Amino acid sequence: MIRSVVRGNGAALPRRIMKNADFEGMVETSDEWIVQRTGIRQRHVAADDETTASLGEAAARAALDSAGMTPADIDLIILATSTPNNTFPATAVEIQNRLGMHHGFAFDMQAVCSGFVYAVATADLYIRGGLAKRVLVIGSETFSRILDWSDRSTCVLFGDGAGALVLEAEEGAGAITDRGVLAASLRSDGAHKDKLFVDGGPSTTGTVGHLRMEGREVFKHAVGMITDVIEATFGEAGITAQDLDWFVPHQANKRIIDASAKKLGIAEEKVVVTVDLHGNTSAASVPLALSVAVADGRIKKGDLVLLEAMGGGFTWGAVLLRW
Ligand code: ACO
Repeated sequence: MIRSVVRGNGAALPRRIMKNADFEGMVETSDEWIVQRTGIRQRHVAADDETTASLGEAAARAALDSAGMTPADIDLIILATSTPNNTFPATAVEIQNRLGMHHGFAFDMQAVCSGFVYAVATADLYIRGGLAKRVLVIGSETFSRILDWSDRSTCVLFGDGAGALVLEAEEGAGAITDRGVLAASLRSDGAHKDKLFVDGGPSTTGTVGHLRMEGREVFKHAVGMITDVIEATFGEAGITAQDLDWFVPHQANKRIIDASAKKLGIAEEKVVVTVDLHGNTSAASVPLALSVAVADGRIKKGDLVLLEAMGGGFTWGAVLLRW
């Protein structure tokens, strides 16, 4: 059977780093509160000339370099984002143009923090369906543009950045030992749409709006939803937590990550944590975490890697792949 195999990955971060202490004086908060409640120590914040498209392009170029490919080799770009450069056209098309790519096709995918997991699962279906052979999957966000910088309960949590993967069709044996995407489970439930949302949009207010969140409500649902969808993915693949080499969760909050790993029985040393460095970068968080763990030599060819995310909607999902 055809598998979607990772050929390369890359990342890009805005130049400016904002430390927790930089919020002191802006809103009533402290480094201690932020670290203790979330595990976040710093985040990158985009300058005016850094956009979802420019960060996405830089991550895409890095992923292509690591794959030993050029834009000419790619036939599909899927960009996961909730902070597009414009309402339309899709920012994926802008990235396609920035890459000098005038063939194939490109579109955006909107599942908030779960966007990258949704996009990898979607790319896998395009590849297995024969509609694409090589896909650039990008997660890129500039959440700093939609934050209410006077709301301490949200502005300290998010950051900007981008990450990307190149997936390519390869013949596999149909076994768990194959490289590539092995299983995926996606979920959403709009009953929770008002717990984490942006209070503006083209069809309602005609404005971009600001992020609003009932943090405690999100927290309450997160661990159960994450562990359910991961267990469904394990069931589909016929594996257990012990078979995993690496768990690369969405980086929203260290307490959510720790509680999910504990409930699933995933050993602490197999969990990739970058929330301290990047904050919550929404659809960029999983590929950014992957880029750190690949660059430092933890994730290697042949490793069994579990990706997971949960976010606004609510949306949630997991992808199991062999690197
Ligand atoms: N600094 C200091 N105090 C603060 C801050 C801040 N930055 N933000 C809120 N507080 C205060 C609150 O006002 C509250 O004060 P009160 O008791 O006087 O009313 C107090 O801290 C406790 O607030 P809680 O919201 O109960 O704090 P909690 O321990 O739940 O932590 C947090 C808040 C970090 C937002 C947590 O609920 C959380 O992480 N939720 C998940 C949200 C999340 O990660 N969303 C990301 C998108 S979804 C996803 O990716 C999973």
